[in-house]
Amino acid sequence: MPTTKGMTSSYNHNSKPQQEDFLHHLDTLLGSIDAAAVETTHLYSIIDYGCSLGANSILAMNHLIQFIHEHKSINNFSVYHNDLPSNDFNALLENLHSSTDSYQHIPDCQIFTQLVPSNFFQQVVPDLQVDLGFSMAAVHWLTQIPDSDYHNAVFLSDVRQQAKKDLLGQAAKDWQSFANARSKEIKPGGLLFIMGLASEIDSTGYREVATAELFITVKKVLTQLVEDKLLDQEPLDSFIFPVIPRTQEEYMQPFENGELKGTWRCLHCSIEKGIASDYLAYQKHQDAKLYAEHYTQFFRSFSQKTMLDNLFALGAVNITAEDLCELFYARFCKTIENSPEEGVFHHLISNIVLQRN
Ligand SMILES: C[S@@+](CC[C@H](N)C(=O)[O-])C[C@H]1O[C@@H](n2cnc3c(N)ncnc32)[C@H](O)[C@@H]1O
Repeated sequence: MPTTKGMTSSYNHNSKPQQEDFLHHLDTLLGSIDAAAVETTHLYSIIDYGCSLGANSILAMNHLIQFIHEHKSINNFSVYHNDLPSNDFNALLENLHSSTDSYQHIPDCQIFTQLVPSNFFQQVVPDLQVDLGFSMAAVHWLTQIPDSDYHNAVFLSDVRQQAKKDLLGQAAKDWQSFANARSKEIKPGGLLFIMGLASEIDSTGYREVATAELFITVKKVLTQLVEDKLLDQEPLDSFIFPVIPRTQEEYMQPFENGELKGTWRCLHCSIEKGIASDYLAYQKHQDAKLYAEHYTQFFRSFSQKTMLDNLFALGAVNITAEDLCELFYARFCKTIENSPEEGVFHHLISNIVLQRN
C-alpha cells in the first residue's frame, strides 16, 4: 500500500518549484537524448512515473517530444502518464486538452496518450516498451511506513538509530523494486531520468536531508496543537512523513550492483542544492504574508492527504480531522509569516540519467 493517495486538487497551481527543477535539469537530459541512437521510423515511447494532476508532466512531455521530433526526425510517439490509481487522472486529461503547454498541439506528429494507474514500484507497462522514462519529485515516497518507534520525529532528518535504519531499509527495498521494474520496461539503449529529493553525507557522517528545515517548523506547529489539546500525543509519536531523500550512492546502488550489475550505464549523476524560488522572491519583495501564503499552498498541495489520513484522522481531539487540518495549515502559515527565515525550503535534488545496455 503506497503511503500517499496523491496530491490535492490544487497541486497543478502550486507545483512551480517542481517544474523549475525539471527545467533546470532539462539540458542534461536533452544532451543524453541527442547522443542516443534511434531509428527515425520508430514509434518512440515516453513514460512519466508519478505524473500527478498533469501540469508539469504535460509540459515536460511537450519539451521532450518537440526536441525528439526536431533532432531525431521522429513523428510517432506513444506517451504514458503513470500515477497511483487514487490520482485524479481526470484533471490530467482536462489539462491535456485545454493547456497551451499541451503536447497534443505539436504539429506534424502523431501522439497516442495512455494513462497507467499503477504503483511504479512494480512493473507498469509491458517488457521493453519504453525508450525514455522519467520521474520528477515522486520516487522519494515510500510504499509503506516501517513499524518503528519514531519518538515524535516527524521526518527522517530527526529520527534516531533503529527507526532511521528501518526507514532507510524500506527506501532501499522500494528503490530496488523500482530499478528491477524499469530494467524490464526500458529497451536496450533507452534512457531513464530520475529527479528526486536527496541527502548528502558529510565527512563527519552527518546526513543532510533535503527539506529538513520545513519539517522543523511542521513539528513545532504540531507540538503546539498537542499542547492546546487538539491533537493526541500518541498518533504524533508514531507519525512520520513518508518521504525519504536518498544519497547519490543510495540512488545508484541497485543499478550498479547485485543482479542488475552491467545492465545500466550511468550517463550523469549529481546532487544539486537550491533554495525555493518563493523565498528568493521574498528576499526582494519583503512581503512576509505573501511569501507565507505561497509557501503554505505549495507545502499543502503535496502534504495534505498524508497529514489528514496518517495523523489528523487518528488524533483529532474535540475537533474534526478536517478542521484540525485547516487549523494546522493556518498556523503553519502564521508561523512562516511571523518568522520567514524559519523553515526555508532547501532543495537537494538528484539529477540522474541512466542508459539501458
Ligand atoms: C509531488 S508529486 C510530483 C508530480 C509531478 N511529477 C511533478 O513534478 O509535478 C508526486 C506524485 O508521485 C505519485 N506517487 C507517489 N508514489 C507513487 C507510486 N508508488 N506509484 C505511482 N505514483 C506514485 C503521487 O501520487 C504524486 O502524484
